[in-house]
Amino acid sequence: KPLVFSGVQPTGSLTLGNYLGAIRKFVALQEDNDCLFCVVDMHSITARLVHDDLKEQTRSIAAAFIASGIDPKEHIVFNQSRVPGHAELAWIFNCVARIGWMNRMTQFKDKAGKDRENASLGLLAYPSLMAADILVYRATHVPVGDDQKQHLELARDIAIKFNNDFSSRIEEAGLAVPLTMGEEKVNAYFPVVEPLIDGPAPRVMSLRDGTKKMSKSDPSDNSRINMTDDADTIAKKIRKAKTDPDALPGDVEGLKGRPEADNLVGIFAALSDRTKADVLSEFGGRQFSEFKPALADLSVTVLSPIGDEMRRLMADPGALDAILLDGAERANALAEKTMADVREIVGFV
Ligand code: TYM
Repeated sequence: KPLVFSGVQPTGSLTLGNYLGAIRKFVALQEDNDCLFCVVDMHSITARLVHDDLKEQTRSIAAAFIASGIDPKEHIVFNQSRVPGHAELAWIFNCVARIGWMNRMTQFKDKAGKDRENASLGLLAYPSLMAADILVYRATHVPVGDDQKQHLELARDIAIKFNNDFSSRIEEAGLAVPLTMGEEKVNAYFPVVEPLIDGPAPRVMSLRDGTKKMSKSDPSDNSRINMTDDADTIAKKIRKAKTDPDALPGDVEGLKGRPEADNLVGIFAALSDRTKADVLSEFGGRQFSEFKPALADLSVTVLSPIGDEMRRLMADPGALDAILLDGAERANALAEKTMADVREIVGFV
């Protein structure tokens, strides 16, 4: 079975963007894959070092995974800091990757802002830790939203450079595995990861501005739907969502140049496991005054039970901690195998 890995940061409340771009896809992938879903607490301290509630936030991501339908017995749910192989491999990747690669990352530029000299070194090295998260399990498939695409390309570059730099040592150690890269068959140690970004809502946009990503850090709470919003709040935010004055188009082509309409149709499609074309075949020609209540109903139907279940799980932090610990032990056993190989390849005694 293919091995799937993905991570979510425990900072701020989870949004509909996190749910549709990532968590809902995790749930679907469980059927045919072995999966690791990680709360990346070490990534959370790259932009801001001191958090008052990191433990609670970590538990709430685990609760969101489980409430959404991830089975932590069948698959692995854990937090990153508990498996030392992530940090250890990230260090080696820091020596594989080039500073220039990191400087080109748009997320680094956005988060560091104008005062780049003052950003943490961890923020710069962020994608290297992300590559280590995936490759310490030699996972091949990574479901993420569109905003993580550039980071995953970097993870591919790191794997390729590691394989090239150490190619003779990988062979000598007898650790080379056959790998197909495009047309080419090569011997290598790390796989070149495959991002899974498809689906009708790879980039859920703000409800107030269809050109901006829906984000946990947007100052306006009306710009996003949080996974823990109650039914009234969800309905109110959708009612208030920015739209244009025209009716919905009959086909996907007609969404061009209408970012708000495109976003709401994408959300509807993702929440109902339909395509945008299919949604428009039902709602084409109708006004937003008809579409929005249908979208609000659908959102409440899908999200309310998840929010309720999250609150129920959060009421028992001990049980969540036990799940995270069990996941970390299983993850660690896998990571240790890779790290033993990597130490041998690099030449550490
Ligand atoms: P994070 O915590 O910012 O977001 C978690 C996941 O949610 C997706 N996402 C969105 N998708 C669609 N529309 C949106 N508006 C939206 N906002 C967020 C993100 O793309 C992501 O999939 N660096 C990662 C976490 C990470 C990771 C990894 C992911 C660390 N190591 C290894 C994959 C593999 C992050 O900060 O995601």
